[in-house]
Amino acid sequence: MSSVLLFNGFLLLATISDVLVLGAPGATQIMDRDPSVKKCKYNRPYSMLEARCSNLELHEIPTNLKADIQVLDATVNRLRELTNDSLTPYKSLSYIYLGDNFIQNIEEGAFANQRYLEVLDISQNGCDNLPKSLFQLPYLRTLYLGHNKLTDSVFKVEVTSPLKMLQLTKNKLTRIPKLGIQSTLVHLNVSDNLITSIDADDLAPFCSLKVLDLSRNIIRFNRGCQCQTFNAWVKLRQIKIKPDDFYNCTDSPVEDCTDVQINNRTYELYNECTDIIQQEVETEKARSVWILVASCVSVFLFVVFVALFCVHKRNRRRRRKQKEQQQLTANNANTELLNSNLTAGNS
Ligand SMILES: *[C@@H]1O[C@H](CO)[C@@H](O)[C@H](O)[C@H]1NC(C)=O
Ligand SMILES: *[C@@H]1O[C@H](CO)[C@@H](O)[C@H](O)[C@H]1NC(C)=O
Ligand SMILES: *[C@@H]1O[C@H](CO)[C@@H](O)[C@H](O)[C@H]1NC(C)=O
Ligand SMILES: *[C@@H]1O[C@H](CO)[C@@H](O)[C@H](O)[C@H]1NC(C)=O
Repeated sequence: MSSVLLFNGFLLLATISDVLVLGAPGATQIMDRDPSVKKCKYNRPYSMLEARCSNLELHEIPTNLKADIQVLDATVNRLRELTNDSLTPYKSLSYIYLGDNFIQNIEEGAFANQRYLEVLDISQNGCDNLPKSLFQLPYLRTLYLGHNKLTDSVFKVEVTSPLKMLQLTKNKLTRIPKLGIQSTLVHLNVSDNLITSIDADDLAPFCSLKVLDLSRNIIRFNRGCQCQTFNAWVKLRQIKIKPDDFYNCTDSPVEDCTDVQINNRTYELYNECTDIIQQEVETEKARSVWILVASCVSVFLFVVFVALFCVHKRNRRRRRKQKEQQQLTANNANTELLNSNLTAGNS
């Protein structure tokens, strides 16, 4: 009963907000003969142009929206596939939300031209694979991939995107994705997967990792003090792990694990990652030094130019004055000559 009320309330709210959107400046309804496109609306949250196509029973992404949209919300529809052409009309998208559809297949080139993509949500679909090129988009930082059918092989890919947040809850992973060195990754959620083992080397390449959700997996630590070593690393790196009782290491062997040693390999992986951050900091520093030098040189050149210009102007003024004076004396001489001529004529 209460849920029905809630649902009605939501509908009412949705209706009101739609009316508000229609009334708001800049909000327009798309008039089109294609009934599936009819109800997409435009909005400008945070000064970005958004096309809102949520909950319209769409079978494909409309291709006749304004070409410069930056946000596309096509959640809760009936999309089944993303082809190479699905998003080609749109070249400025930073945010794409496709959650809660029936997407099972995404062609390799589907996101290839989304150079500005920062956030992609394809959670709650039926994907068992993803295009490799997705992980090479230059600004992609947030990926919501939860509630799909993704397996370990999806992540056998070179990741060059600056990923910060990777949401992979409720998929079919059996281990932490092997993404290589990821210096930007802060948040990794692999809850509700089929992960059976984990060790410090899995996390060491993610040297910025702060939050890791491992809830509802069936992780067993088998050899020696693996659990204690893992936990020692997690504590050292101050990674916040869920579930909270992961630190207990209850089903570990009874051998003495109070003084565990962290592998050299773990440190190597970690250091490779921090080296990248260090390099970036240095590149950035070098860049600012160059900018400073360039600015100083330009200011210097400008000052020299202004000084030269002033000197030139002063010289010209002086020369003109001299000329005027010469002319004046010449004129005086002429007048005198004239006068003397006149006097001569008069006499
Ligand atoms: C989609 O694009 C990729 C390359 O980006 C290409 O390899 C593939 O053949 C294309 N698929 C179709 C159906 O055109
Ligand atoms: C991980 O995802 C699940 C499901 O969406 C969510 O309940 C949980 O809070 C997330 N964990 C973290 C640490 O955000
Ligand atoms: C793990 O330890 C915490 C306290 O450190 C305790 O509250 C929790 O019940 C323990 N969990 C298990 C499964 O032993
Ligand atoms: C690990 O590194 C330490 C110090 O760098 C070194 O003494 C030790 O032999 C190394 N252990 C292995 C197994 O390489």
